[in-house]
Amino acid sequence: MIIRPMTIDDYDEIFAMWQITTKRALSKADERSQIERYLKRNEGMSQVAVTDGKIVGTVLAGHDGRRGFIHHMAVLPEYRRRHIGRKLAKKAIECIAAEGIDKTHIFCYQNNETGQNFWSSFGFKKRDDVFVFSFNNEGE
Ligand SMILES: CC(C)(COP(=O)(O)OP(=O)(O)OC[C@H]1O[C@@H](n2cnc3c(N)ncnc32)[C@H](O)[C@@H]1OP(=O)(O)O)[C@@H](O)C(=O)NCCC(=O)NCCS
Repeated sequence: MIIRPMTIDDYDEIFAMWQITTKRALSKADERSQIERYLKRNEGMSQVAVTDGKIVGTVLAGHDGRRGFIHHMAVLPEYRRRHIGRKLAKKAIECIAAEGIDKTHIFCYQNNETGQNFWSSFGFKKRDDVFVFSFNNEGE
């Protein structure tokens, strides 16, 4: 298994993967043009895990100049519990740290127990003092 930076040429494969792993988190922000823009803005930071030429894991990593953010941390079901996710997360955090950003946030659905266990085991601290408020220019 290797971990390498994600490129826009990976788009079809990763989008197909996300249909399996992260479907409810997908939005307009995951269209090809938006992912291309994201990868350009955060060059070299997002990663894929590849086994036998197949992408089996992804992580989108970036920052806004102040805080790091990780999205679409995902591993195909048949490849889970082999620490592929942990290796991807580690690389993402290293890339964010290399940009001089110390703190990284992730969003995790309240009923995603696996996600919460995963991030807690990595050392992320669950916040009980913060709500996420979102504003959408196009309405709900
Ligand atoms: C979350 C996810 C990326 C984890 O990927 P993974 O490669 O299986 O994770 P790892 O093998 O690196 O696990 C690292 C640690 O996380 C914890 N963990 C991972 N999956 C777990 C599970 N199902 N139950 C309990 N703990 C779990 C464990 O502490 C594990 O270490 P251990 O196996 O030595 O006990 C994967 O389950 C996934 O793609 N889920 C669907 C998408 C998702 O929910 N992403 C997170 C969004 S917030």
